[in-house]
Amino acid sequence: MTAPVRLAVVGVGRMGALHAETLAATDSIDVVAVADAVSVAAERVAASIGADCYESLEALSERDDVEAWLIATPTTTHPAIVEMALGAGLHVLCEKPLALDLAESERLGAQAAAAGLMLQIGFWRRFAAPWVAARQAIVDGAIGRPLMLRLAQWDADPPPASFCDPVTSGGLAIDCGVHEFDLVAWMTGLDIETVTARNLPLVDRSIGEIGDVDNLLAMLDLAGGAVATVDLSRNCRFGDDVRTEILGENGAIFVDLLPVGRTRLADAGGVRVIPASEADDAFVEGIRAQAEAFADAIRGVPVEFPGAVDSTVAVAVGRAVQRSAVEGVPVALNA
Ligand SMILES: NC(=O)c1ccc[n+]([C@@H]2O[C@H](COP(=O)([O-])OP(=O)(O)OC[C@H]3O[C@@H](n4cnc5c(N)ncnc54)[C@H](O)[C@@H]3O)[C@@H](O)[C@H]2O)c1
Repeated sequence: MTAPVRLAVVGVGRMGALHAETLAATDSIDVVAVADAVSVAAERVAASIGADCYESLEALSERDDVEAWLIATPTTTHPAIVEMALGAGLHVLCEKPLALDLAESERLGAQAAAAGLMLQIGFWRRFAAPWVAARQAIVDGAIGRPLMLRLAQWDADPPPASFCDPVTSGGLAIDCGVHEFDLVAWMTGLDIETVTARNLPLVDRSIGEIGDVDNLLAMLDLAGGAVATVDLSRNCRFGDDVRTEILGENGAIFVDLLPVGRTRLADAGGVRVIPASEADDAFVEGIRAQAEAFADAIRGVPVEFPGAVDSTVAVAVGRAVQRSAVEGVPVALNA
C-alpha cells in the first residue's frame, strides 16, 4: 500500500478548517500539522484532528517530514507562502486563485515546474461528482457540440466587506467568478475570447463602499461561436448554490448542487439523472477528491489537475469582466 502523503494545512479559517477536518478522514493523506497566524484557531483545529500546531511558517517549513502544504490563507498572501513552500521543496495545493497578479501567477507556475513540484489550484468542482459527470457526458458526445451555457453562483449572504474588498479578494468577478470561468474552459475545452459584463444593483451597501459589487452578469464569447452567461450573487439567502446548464446540438445537461448534487441529462429520449453524478454534499466530496488527486499526483499517478495556468486564465477573465462592467464595452482576452 502507498504511504499517505504527509501534509500541513496553512491557514485554518473558514476553508482551511474544512480542508483539515475533511482530509484528516482520508487514507491517502495524513494531516500532520496545521498553521495559522492566529494560534487559537489553529489550536482548536489541531486538537480536533490530532495534528501539531504552528504559528510560525518558518518553524513549520523546517520540519523535514512534511511533503506538502495546502494553503488556505487570504488570497493576497498566496504568492509569498506558495513561494516559500516551493522553495522548501514542498508540493502545494493552493486555494483559488493562486495570485491576483497575472505575472506573479505565471512566475509561481514556472517555479513549481522548474523544481518538479506539484502546484495544484483549488478548483474543487473539477473533482465533484456532478461536474465530473457533466464533463464526461460532453466528452462522450451525449449532447453534441455545446452551444449555450448558463452558470450561476449565488451565495446566501456576503462575507464581511473587509473580505470582499477587491484589493484583498479580487472582488466578486475574481473571488467567485474564477470558479465559473474555469468550469467553462474545462467543460467545453474552448477558449474564452471576449467578455461583456454588467454590474447589477447593490443589495449590501457596505460592499459598494469598499469598491465592489454583490451581483453581476457576464456573457462570455467562446471560440467557435458558443456563448456562456455567468451570474454571480452574494445574497440569494437560501444557501450557497451553484448551477450549471449546457445546451448542446442534441440535448442538454443540468448540474445542481442544492439540495443535493446531481446531474440530469436531457435528450430526445427524455430527462434522467446520471447515477454517478449524485452526491449528498458535492462541495465537501469535491474538496476531498481534489486532495486525493493531489496525493495521487505526488505519488506518481498520472492525474489531470488545475494548475497555475488555469488560475492565470480565470483571473484574466475576471479582470476583463470587471473592465467591461465599468467601461460598458466588450473586452477581448489576449487583446
Ligand atoms: N474553493 C472555494 O470554494 C473557496 C471558498 C472560500 C474561500 N476560498 C479561498 O480560501 C482562501 C481563504 O479564505 P477563507 O474564507 O478561509 O478566509 P479566512 O479569513 O476565513 O481564513 C484565512 C485564515 O488564514 C490565516 N492567515 C492569514 N494570514 C496568514 C499567514 N500569513 N500565515 C498563516 N495564516 C494566515 C487567518 O488567521 C485565517 O485563520 C482564500 O484564498 C479564498 O479565495 C475558496
